[in-house]
Parts: sequence; structure tokens; C-alpha cells
Amino acid sequence: MFNLNLFAIHSMYIYRISLICIFYVKGDIDTIINLAPALKFNGGGHINHTIFWQNLSPNGGKPSDALTKAVEKDFGSWENMKNQLANSSVAVQGSGWGWLGYNKQMKKLQIATCQNQDPLQATTGLVPLFGIDVWEHAYYLQYKNVRADYVKAIFDVANWNDVSARFEKALK
Ligand SMILES: [Fe+2]
Repeated sequence: MFNLNLFAIHSMYIYRISLICIFYVKGDIDTIINLAPALKFNGGGHINHTIFWQNLSPNGGKPSDALTKAVEKDFGSWENMKNQLANSSVAVQGSGWGWLGYNKQMKKLQIATCQNQDPLQATTGLVPLFGIDVWEHAYYLQYKNVRADYVKAIFDVANWNDVSARFEKALK
């Protein structure tokens, strides 16, 4: 899960965003419009991976009481939430992300998936709390092509302190 290959990929997203910003600074609007899909992809890739690195830790603690209560209210149990998130993430067609997000309007937690590097908040309105990168580059080195084993194992290295802090912030 943690490897240099992924850091190299993340750096590439940031590099491409900076190239697009150069056109913006130059006021080259036609080029910017042409590059909008690239900005979504590379901007999303940067946002998603920044959350992902913070979402993972070998010593991630336990979910806060507030997060535990909300999960039990919205999913029935912690186990149900994990199963729904795992199943949705495994079922993503091709490359993408599985997310536990918070719906501020409905005041509830929701599971969602995104294709490619589409950022969760910009495309669904949900506040991202915990993301699972199901691009093959995230798991191929350790899990070959068995996405389900990788998704199951990721809960053991989830940084619940970070996920709980994101939830607390989303409630404000
Ligand atoms: Fe990735």
C-alpha cells in the first residue's frame, strides 16, 4: 500500500496541475478550457491522494464516539458500513475510488463511488471522510489483481483518528 511508485504518481498529478496553472497565469483562456478535463483528473488525483495518505496509519486508533454513533444510526452497525463500503469499492468498474462521505444537507453518512480521479465533493457534494483507492496501482504490488483482498485489508490500517476529525469538521 505504501510505496514509492504511488508517491511518484501523486507528484505527477501536482506537476500537471502546475503546468495548467501557468496557462491560467498567462490568461490563455482557450487553452484552460481545453485543459478542463485534465484539471479535473490531475486536481482530483491530488485531492484524493492527499486525503488517502492521511486516512492511513499503522496506529490509527479508534473511531470517535460521535462517528461510531453516526455509523450505527445510518448503517445499523459498524460491520454493515464496512461491508457496504468494501462491496461498493470492489464493484467499481475499471479505476476509481470508494468513499465514506457525509451529506451535510441530509445530515447523514453515505457510501459513494467515483470513476477515475473524480473528486468526491466536487462531483457529489459529499464531504470525504474515508477513501479507498481502487486503481490497480494502489494494490497490484501487494495483492496482484485481487482487489477484494486489498479492500478488506485496508480497514486494518485505517487512520480512524483522521476519519473522526474529518467527520467532526464536516458537522460544523
Ligand atoms: Fe492512486
